[in-house]
Amino acid sequence: MAGEDARRVALVTGATSGIGRATAERLHADGWSVVATGQDDRRADEIAAVLRDRGHVARVDLAASDAATRLVAATVERFGRLDALVNNAGVHTLATAVETDDATWDRVLGINLRAAFQLAREAIPVMARGGGGTIVNVASEAGLVAVPGQVAYNVSKAGMVMLTRSLAIDHADQGIRAVSVCPGTTETPLVREAIDAAPDPAAHARTLAASRPAKRLGRVEEIAAAIAFTVGGEVGFLTGSELVIDGGYTAR
Ligand SMILES: NC(=O)c1ccc[n+]([C@@H]2O[C@H](COP(=O)([O-])OP(=O)(O)OC[C@H]3O[C@@H](n4cnc5c(N)ncnc54)[C@H](O)[C@@H]3O)[C@@H](O)[C@H]2O)c1
Repeated sequence: MAGEDARRVALVTGATSGIGRATAERLHADGWSVVATGQDDRRADEIAAVLRDRGHVARVDLAASDAATRLVAATVERFGRLDALVNNAGVHTLATAVETDDATWDRVLGINLRAAFQLAREAIPVMARGGGGTIVNVASEAGLVAVPGQVAYNVSKAGMVMLTRSLAIDHADQGIRAVSVCPGTTETPLVREAIDAAPDPAAHARTLAASRPAKRLGRVEEIAAAIAFTVGGEVGFLTGSELVIDGGYTAR
């Protein structure tokens, strides 16, 4: 356990599954106290059992307009401070513009982008009072290049990248750093869902792996390690930028 991390507090959204869960577990192992959000009761209990006395699990729907206020308040009530916000919760949809209705657009942008903005808005004053902090927006390679057939998702992730940059420049003098972590396709339940929703799931899975120079999908532990590095503070000059972990997908 890193002693210096022992008093530090992270809020990780969508921490009952995939990248978020791996991140909550990694930060806990590094000595952080972790507020984890989730929606599924069974999986919430599982992560609570991992985090134990240095953890708090909040069941929230980030589509609700008061979710961010309640989450940050619950974090302060439980641990008294907030040093890192990891905006990880997200939803994906496979649809072109002509296939996307308003409700889908609003849902994807609402959960992926608006909730990240609202949480940052609530978190920054608390972080600033504690001497500063780090916001990690888990964006995507799809926020940097247009991945076919997922317009709402692509736009939500591109929005997160610009949210990151804006937060970084507006709040640097309050000791706030903001970084986008942009995973390439990574083996998680969200990706499994997308594969299963494709007309030919097996072919889609092969295409996903073959589409990147590394010829494989990312692993949740790799993304969690990048997030832990970012919030760890060893590189305080790292802010306003994107950490891209995509097996070379966007390099071409
Ligand atoms: N897996 C990938 O290939 C990949 C690639 C790039 C970016 N990402 C991003 O990484 C993040 C995590 O993805 P994952 O693959 O681990 O997904 P996942 O489906 O395993 O987890 C998503 C999490 O978001 C939470 N969530 C969804 N809607 C919510 C809502 N309304 N309120 C509260 N929580 C909600 C879920 O409960 C879950 O814990 C997402 O933002 C995703 O867009 C994933």
